[in-house]
Amino acid sequence: MAENKGKYYITTPIYYPSSNLHIGHTYCTVMADAMARFKRLAGYDVHFLTGTDEHGQKIQTIADEKGVTPQEYVDEIVAGIKDLWATMEISYDDFIRTTEPRHVKRVQAIFKKLYEKGDIYKGEYEGMYCTPCESFWTESQLVDGKCPDCGRPVTKAKEEAYFFRLSKYQDRLLDLFENTPEFLEPETRRNEMIAFVKQGLEDLCISRSTFDWGIPVPIDEKHVIYVWLDALSNYITALGYPDEPELYEKYWPANVHLVGKEIVRFHTVIWPAMLMSMEVPLPQKVLGHGWLLLEGGKMSKSKGNVVDPVVLIDRYGIDALKYFLLREYTFGQDGVFTNEVMLKRMNYDLANDLGNLVSRTVSMIEKYNGGIVPEYTDAVDPLDEELKQIATGAASKVEAYMDDFKFNFALEEIWVVIRRANKYIDETMPWVLAKDEADKPRLDNVLRNLTEAIRVVSVLIYPFMHTTTDAMREQLGLAGTEIKWEDAFVFDLAGGAKVCKGAPIFPRLDIDKEIEELEALEGKHKDVNIPLELKDEIVYDDFDKLDLRVGTILSAEKHPDADKLLVFQVQMGTEKRQIISGVAKYFKPEDCVGKKVVVVANLKPRKLRGLESKGMILFADDEVNGKESLAFVTTEAKDGNPVT
Ligand code: MSP
Repeated sequence: MAENKGKYYITTPIYYPSSNLHIGHTYCTVMADAMARFKRLAGYDVHFLTGTDEHGQKIQTIADEKGVTPQEYVDEIVAGIKDLWATMEISYDDFIRTTEPRHVKRVQAIFKKLYEKGDIYKGEYEGMYCTPCESFWTESQLVDGKCPDCGRPVTKAKEEAYFFRLSKYQDRLLDLFENTPEFLEPETRRNEMIAFVKQGLEDLCISRSTFDWGIPVPIDEKHVIYVWLDALSNYITALGYPDEPELYEKYWPANVHLVGKEIVRFHTVIWPAMLMSMEVPLPQKVLGHGWLLLEGGKMSKSKGNVVDPVVLIDRYGIDALKYFLLREYTFGQDGVFTNEVMLKRMNYDLANDLGNLVSRTVSMIEKYNGGIVPEYTDAVDPLDEELKQIATGAASKVEAYMDDFKFNFALEEIWVVIRRANKYIDETMPWVLAKDEADKPRLDNVLRNLTEAIRVVSVLIYPFMHTTTDAMREQLGLAGTEIKWEDAFVFDLAGGAKVCKGAPIFPRLDIDKEIEELEALEGKHKDVNIPLELKDEIVYDDFDKLDLRVGTILSAEKHPDADKLLVFQVQMGTEKRQIISGVAKYFKPEDCVGKKVVVVANLKPRKLRGLESKGMILFADDEVNGKESLAFVTTEAKDGNPVT
């Protein structure tokens, strides 16, 4: 372990568990992970926090639509997010969920602190209200003057709410942006924020009473705390602030909050103002990164055009994906994701440059020196010194780029070493040296220099692709030895090891074939037969527990207390049932009557907003014009009959 250089606290945004994460979310977490690993290797005491932002109306609405509780809904999605990070070996130290008791009680304590400071007051929130959706909208959020969610007319309305005196902090915020430029980068974002704050800040409405999926306002339980106040607090509640401050005292203020460009405003205006009010030090830096776009524009679940990281990891492995994300895009700028660009990077940089260097070198050591890395000899050449200088000089360049979050330049610097080493093979031609015993000392030096260069690379790439580090070191005969950053500055550590040729660390890809298969997986071709990704296999007995029955919908009406829900009366043979589903968005009640549907009949009854629901009607996801939609799973069979 290198000397301890002090603490380093890095965070990602906490993700909304509204649906599974796509490659855009992965991008941010991969950058944070690379930085955390780099800082650990460089001798810092790192704390890396990520998590999920689980409250708010949107989550409640989705859960209602699915006919489950918000907690049930988020539990399932969050489990998937944690699985994804586990698959990607993301090295976070803590994962905070905003529904955890530790967070809830601390957000309430934070609310009280702001209140006691005199920075929270009760007022009236005025906005455009959509009664069916129970949502307030600002004028600018409306689409054609109508509710952006359901498209129905809105009316001007007022509700009682709590406000945070954001306006009070306007001058201090401007001062922060202007006099502490390193607080917000890149510079373009800082300029945007300066312009935004100069327009004048209004006080912020920080409570809601039209839905209840949130943290109750501690002084008035009819209200829940605004989801952004709740979410931003995670960066200190996870450290135990205010009641168990041990980690807080050790790690706060954060060295860096990594966030996407669209949430920079929350992190550099609302969050610092909250901290100023609480008299808590500000984070040292907020870094706003750009978006990964698709050729057709933004990725979005509802457009059905998201790139699923799991598909790419399954095919190419975590390191190839991480390398691509970190190498291809420039921090702070948007970038376009295409399969072709990704596959070319993987082939040229990973299979050709790095993979070939390792396999050529290891093969030659096996062939020409019995698999043992030779000791240095006197038969030197200026080329050797050049390779050594480039290899051992790379680490400090990587450090400088990493200080600026220039992952792509840092990787490029490492690839300078890799390409130079490949060229060194072509220049020194070991296969010619091997022909004459008199050249053996020279051959030994060449093989030794190559091994050292690869060993240095194995250390340099560790923060970005640690499993490749392991694979390389295994082939070099260095498996299990400690990875030390300082070893990247020296060129005399690999002698005597027994190499061990393994499979190519990155196989060559047939780009055209891969593109075709990826497009097929994305649903762009119909004539394919690629196995679907399914939940875990079940046995017949699992299936046999379900009692599926045919039913006819006798009537359908809106739930009196929840606008997302439809209340169905369903005839199932002799029995008439009430079943409630969160599908009001997709069906007009009158269109449902008479439909013959499939019902899960032995599902435990439960109450949904006060009304009992006995069973579940099956629906199929059915995207219409790029928008999420549903269809009934209908049947011709007779009421009450089993579906087997
Ligand atoms: N829950 C809030 C953050 C609260 S932090 C206190 C949120 N969640 S999110 O799931 O919508 O987005 C999380 C992060 O993912 C954001 O930083 C966002 O910029 C990032 N990305 C979402 N789509 C993205 C791309 N297509 N490309 C890059 N990053 C993207 O906002």
